[in-house]
Amino acid sequence: MTNRARKPYIAGNWKMNLDRARSLDLIKTVKGRLGDGGDREVGFFVPAIYLADVTAVAQGSPLGVGGQNIYFEANGAFTGELAPRMLREVGADRVLVGHSERRHVFREPDDWMGRKVRAALDADLLPIYCVGETLDERKGGKTDRVVKRQLETGFEKVRPDDAHRVTVAYEPVWAIGTGETATTEQAAQAHRTIRKWLVQRLGEAPAHLIRILYGGSVKPDNAKELMAVEDVDGLLVGGASLQADTFLPIIEYDR
Ligand code: 13P
Repeated sequence: MTNRARKPYIAGNWKMNLDRARSLDLIKTVKGRLGDGGDREVGFFVPAIYLADVTAVAQGSPLGVGGQNIYFEANGAFTGELAPRMLREVGADRVLVGHSERRHVFREPDDWMGRKVRAALDADLLPIYCVGETLDERKGGKTDRVVKRQLETGFEKVRPDDAHRVTVAYEPVWAIGTGETATTEQAAQAHRTIRKWLVQRLGEAPAHLIRILYGGSVKPDNAKELMAVEDVDGLLVGGASLQADTFLPIIEYDR
């Protein structure tokens, strides 16, 4: 049992990995181990094509299941894109917005972010809005500026009464998939900056409802120390979320 103000949130982002059979096996294993979930929230962000099957297997458990991306329109000539309502229809209850791979590999512009977060909320999907600086930006001393700019665009259409449904993930781009994790000081500093910005933007009480997750090379052997950092309310895990033997110890970081 934890005595945190906010319920810890451990999320796995499978990215473009696994296949249908291995996805369903992993969900079955985690579901079996989780029990009623109780004192922590666990979610998986899965390839959209597997959402219907994964949500069917997850049913009856506290596991959250979400998509990895959405477009902000509800319909239209947007070949290859998915509307928030479509994810909802196949059972998703959450979605990632602004993941660094969307921003940097697929060149999604900043000015889509606010519309995507709003569209997720309006479709009753819980967004995790991802922010984080590149290595060049960190070396250039621009981390705070970049993160605040990303928050400005992502929270453009978020109202204080939406706050309890929004999560922020701080994922320094240089730590994603590299094996290099932010130090606890670097994570603490960035999470403090984000919390302060949220307080200024939304007010004290709503800002304190928002969980801020850390992501970037989270592994079983660093999960506990990251979760001990003030204002780290959870973890967004890529590679280590693909197998039960690495993800379960992260979910159970305090046991
Ligand atoms: P890794 O845990 O593989 O570094 O990925 C982090 C991430 O991008 C989660 O969204």
